[in-house]
Amino acid sequence: MSGLTAEPSGSADPARSDTGIQTPDPTPPAVIVLAAGGGTRMKSSRSKLLHEIAGHTMLSYALAAATEIGPDEVVVVVGHQREQVQAHLAEIAPHVRTAVQEQQLGTGHAVQCGLAALADLAQLPPEIVVTYGDVPMLSSETLAELLADHRAQAAAVTVLTAVVGDPTGYGRVVRDQDGHVARIVEHRDADDDTRAITEINSGIYVFDSAVLTAGLGQLDADNDQGELYLTDVLAYARSAGGAVAAHLISDTWQTEGVNDRVQLSAMNAEMNRRILHGWMTAGVTILDPATTWVQASVDLAPDVTLLPGTSLEGATSVGAGATIGPEVTLKDVEVGEGASVVRTHAELSVIGAGAEVGPYARLRPGTRLGTRGKIGTFVETKNAQVGDGAKVPHQTYVGDAEIGREVNVGAGVIFANYDGVTKSTTVVGDYSFVGSNSVLNAPVTIAPGAYVAAGSVITGDVGPGDLGVARGRQRNIPGWVLRKRAGTKTAAAAERATSDSTEPDGASTGEDAEGR
Ligand code: UD1
Ligand code: CA
Repeated sequence: MSGLTAEPSGSADPARSDTGIQTPDPTPPAVIVLAAGGGTRMKSSRSKLLHEIAGHTMLSYALAAATEIGPDEVVVVVGHQREQVQAHLAEIAPHVRTAVQEQQLGTGHAVQCGLAALADLAQLPPEIVVTYGDVPMLSSETLAELLADHRAQAAAVTVLTAVVGDPTGYGRVVRDQDGHVARIVEHRDADDDTRAITEINSGIYVFDSAVLTAGLGQLDADNDQGELYLTDVLAYARSAGGAVAAHLISDTWQTEGVNDRVQLSAMNAEMNRRILHGWMTAGVTILDPATTWVQASVDLAPDVTLLPGTSLEGATSVGAGATIGPEVTLKDVEVGEGASVVRTHAELSVIGAGAEVGPYARLRPGTRLGTRGKIGTFVETKNAQVGDGAKVPHQTYVGDAEIGREVNVGAGVIFANYDGVTKSTTVVGDYSFVGSNSVLNAPVTIAPGAYVAAGSVITGDVGPGDLGVARGRQRNIPGWVLRKRAGTKTAAAAERATSDSTEPDGASTGEDAEGR
């Protein structure tokens, strides 16, 4: 999951001092991810944490950031819709512990629940990092810097803060005359002077674990919400003689949570903007960033060009020099170097180097297009191998097929793979030619070097060098139009054409004219 936030990866190795001299590795911290809250404003049957940003759940970002700082243990505190959340965790992060917070009695109570899940450890690690499951932009670099700052200042608590334009709703960071953090006051508990403070609490902290344990033991719910506030541990740490440090970051997106779908959309747009910026910096041309969407897991080579309306999803990768778009959606697709994909929808497919796809193609799962192959206009493919240099250019359905190299499939061919009960495969050998408007009725094999006549319904194999013809033979009925459509423009044209063609060759020279 590294690089999910497309942040430049700074060196954040806490074991290295500025002089480059190796110091002993500090004991890794534990991370507690708070994720028990409800997310009512999402108005969703799905847990808020499972909504996606750039193709990954919000929770997966929180776990990636937590995991990348190398903690000994990660605990996720779950509550609302926890069956969904736990099922997702089992899939994406089986290494984490979960703690159940039955009732959401506040952030302090949530951390108590998280610590309870570590009760089996011989001793707590010296530091506990607290993050939120619904703050997807927080990077592991920021967490590592927070931890390094905490250690450098030998603080009891270090809180990640930001100065924001509109601090409404956030806890405010109250500093003393010396600029040290005195306490955090929730918006609802704050007077006007405190509300005027624009430095906010992100809710992300590093705690000395002994201070945290003692501080949590002192909490009361004597506040506007009647909750146990984790923020009160900061004032406790001060009163117990510890230092409370603040690590202020300028990238306020990293401290922002998602509470409703408007914020979800804004966060998606910002994440996409960062991802596109990262790829442009890495040598990708993006004509219209406003209509181009690239998920976090996509991989692009230098000199790729993305045209307007392109959406790249899942494990899609695009090779050097390829052009994608306009209006292309690729999900889990591997595109080779120099390929061109235009107005296409493709999923779980491979497009070879130098190949051409579209406009208006649909590649369903299992399509493998060879080097310099072509899948053209109004062509649908499924579980289909199209060999190197093979061409399927026009209005064709290719289902369950193995098409060899440099095969040419004419316009309007149907690879009929389904008889209503079973699906079967059609094989077309190298260098063969399938005439337009044919139906290849699977299972059937066209040998290498064979031809199928246009308009054939092929139900039996065609051998090498053979021409398969399977259609009615043509019969012309002379004079039909003149008899059955007399007086029409068509009949008149027929008469003219007939008399023209009965004019002897060379009539203009007069030679032979009298003889006819
Ligand atoms: C909290 C902070 C506030 C800070 C803000 C940043 C406290 C008392 N206040 O506000 O200073 O500016 O975060 O967003 O800590 N959660 C649980 N269990 C609970 C309560 C909350 O797991 O019982 C989780 C939520 O799922 C969420 C996070 O903790 O991920 C924060 O909860 P939320 O209610 O959004 O924050 P506030 O208490 O309003
Ligand atoms: Ca919140």
